[in-house]
Amino acid sequence: MGAAALRAAQAVNAEELRARVASMFWYHSIDLPGGIRTPGVSQTPPLQGDELPDLAGRSVIDIGAFDGYYSFAAERLGATRVVALDHYAWCVDFARRQAYWDECRALGRIPDPTRDLTDFWLPDAPGRAGFDLARAALASSVETVVGDFMTLDLAELGSFDVSLFLGYLYHVREPLWALERLRRITREVAVIETHAVVVEGYRDASLMLFHPGDELGGDFTNWYVPTEAALHGLCRAAGFSRVATVRSHAFDDCGEAAPGGGVVPAFRDFRVTVHAFV
Ligand SMILES: C[S@@+](CC[C@H](N)C(=O)[O-])C[C@H]1O[C@@H](n2cnc3c(N)ncnc32)[C@H](O)[C@@H]1O
Repeated sequence: MGAAALRAAQAVNAEELRARVASMFWYHSIDLPGGIRTPGVSQTPPLQGDELPDLAGRSVIDIGAFDGYYSFAAERLGATRVVALDHYAWCVDFARRQAYWDECRALGRIPDPTRDLTDFWLPDAPGRAGFDLARAALASSVETVVGDFMTLDLAELGSFDVSLFLGYLYHVREPLWALERLRRITREVAVIETHAVVVEGYRDASLMLFHPGDELGGDFTNWYVPTEAALHGLCRAAGFSRVATVRSHAFDDCGEAAPGGGVVPAFRDFRVTVHAFV
């Protein structure tokens, strides 16, 4: 039996699939066979239209794949090879991390992020269960790499025609370095989608809004949020030759917390997608 046929044979039947989907946490809403959609919690509207370049015949890497919505979409759109890369969402024990975060909030402290990779680390990647179930149900050939994009060996990872870097940039502590690494593995175009900010009166300035704590969405893993100009500048400084914004839209989920409470009216959150060309 060939690999694809074997995977198809392993695909679970509809009733079992529905029950297993219902028993799990999902970040992404993914359409599976049998009219089943996974109940994803992500508030970010999926990329649409030309936000994704033509993927037919391309090799694609999906960095920060989580449950794999974009990996499976790339495969469906005709990519010849798709690699889903992640480590954080697959390996961190979110329940224990949350208890620690709550403790830190109560004490007015910023959590030590290194504990994610030590105390809260689950090396057998139980957080990949959703991805694995969707992959089996879709009889998908998407490959997986468990690793930290910021530290793994790029020569070993290889290069890809199209790199997807979606909802990831603000999670890294070294955004320029992250984009330099992205440039090194990209052969044609990187699709970068991120939280961004407009600072009224400074719309064209290359500014990075830094979040030392959980100001952005109550999440201590969100660090730098660029203006659109800063995002373009970062990509060019990282070695991409041309950058084009393909979509920007308002994001109402979180305002910027002002010291002492309230929301700073001069800052407006939005999400932006750019294509950065090699
Ligand atoms: C907001 S989710 C985005 C998932 C998917 N790319 C999308 O756009 O729907 C962030 C992803 O970044 C990954 N990530 C990598 N390093 C991280 C870190 N230090 N903190 C939080 N998330 C991190 C997570 O594992 C997760 O898959």
